Amino acid sequence: MREARVSLSTKALSHNLQRVREFAPHSHVLAMVKADAYGHGLAFALNALQDADALGVAFFKEAQDIRALGNTQPIVLIEGVFTLDEWIDATTINAQCVIHQDCQLQWALEQIVPNATIWLKINTGMNRLGFSPDEAIAAAQQLRATGYDLILTMHFANADEPNHPMNQTQMDSFFSIKKQLEPIKASLCNSAALIQWPQLHFDWVRPGIMMYGSSPFSDRSATQLDLKPVMTLTTQLIATHKLPIGAVIGYGSSFTTTRVTQLGVVAMGYGDGYPRVVSSAQVIVDGVKVPIVGRVSMDMLTVDLTDLPTLPTLSTKVILWGNGLDADDAAKAAGTISYELFTRLSTRPIRDIVE
Ligand SMILES: Cc1ncc(COP(=O)(O)O)c(C=O)c1O
Repeated sequence: MREARVSLSTKALSHNLQRVREFAPHSHVLAMVKADAYGHGLAFALNALQDADALGVAFFKEAQDIRALGNTQPIVLIEGVFTLDEWIDATTINAQCVIHQDCQLQWALEQIVPNATIWLKINTGMNRLGFSPDEAIAAAQQLRATGYDLILTMHFANADEPNHPMNQTQMDSFFSIKKQLEPIKASLCNSAALIQWPQLHFDWVRPGIMMYGSSPFSDRSATQLDLKPVMTLTTQLIATHKLPIGAVIGYGSSFTTTRVTQLGVVAMGYGDGYPRVVSSAQVIVDGVKVPIVGRVSMDMLTVDLTDLPTLPTLSTKVILWGNGLDADDAAKAAGTISYELFTRLSTRPIRDIVE
């Protein structure tokens, strides 16, 4: 049987949640589990995140999926609801909503849910979701008048680049509104922001990628932040060949050997979710990092095994990312971020939970 496998570590996820608690000891944790827990599998993640104070999803259907698993933790819909009916349904399953635009405000005022919590989102400069500062003050007053409990929230566009000038602009905009609405609870921080700015933790932090063991920064590794990889993607070697100098490899004949080469064929391709467009990516074979050569195809990729002290046997395990090889490195080689690698995996690799 083909052995392409996604191994998921409960222990690593619990460890990373603990790291969030160490970074933000005085805040509640809204653990982001949207997009099938960043591609890790919702049921698996919920099991390891029972200590989180709430679970964050993008939209209502994802909240329903959580409830369908029997989970009763508080849920927050970070895009809020898309219709009045959904507003009613969300409150029925006890999901809190972000309100970021006028129609959502009107639904909340039309169907008042006594004492419910609303996350009021301000656009502080990302220009994706949120009320303008003026609108936010008026919305807050209306919601408060009907008895809603408010959490003022925003999202950074550049928290992964702590010195980006937009960060200060966004903070200034947020605090000028917060000041006018005091006392009010607040939530600003995703993973990068919560690691970088303890002074911004306030009532709720909203970690995503750090819980799954990746670094939110390009200049600090997951290991440096003491985060452990939750997902390890492995497979096996299915063929080896000795090629002469000048041989070309794979589709497009894009790689030409410049030495006698021991080539390995690995059972992993873009049909499994490994990115097709990688340059200078590596995998681990027999504990050694070796380069991918030639194009990644749908079911296979090819690696240069020449520098290994002994030629590995068929079925030798190959690590694509996870234990021993940061997903961030594989992502960089593909010109993307680990978030995308995790969420784009296909259902092909077998999934199993370790520990
Ligand atoms: C509103 C909001 N908060 C928090 C997060 C978590 O971000 P990260 O995974 O970078 O920690 C996201 C992710 O996209 C988000 O959209």
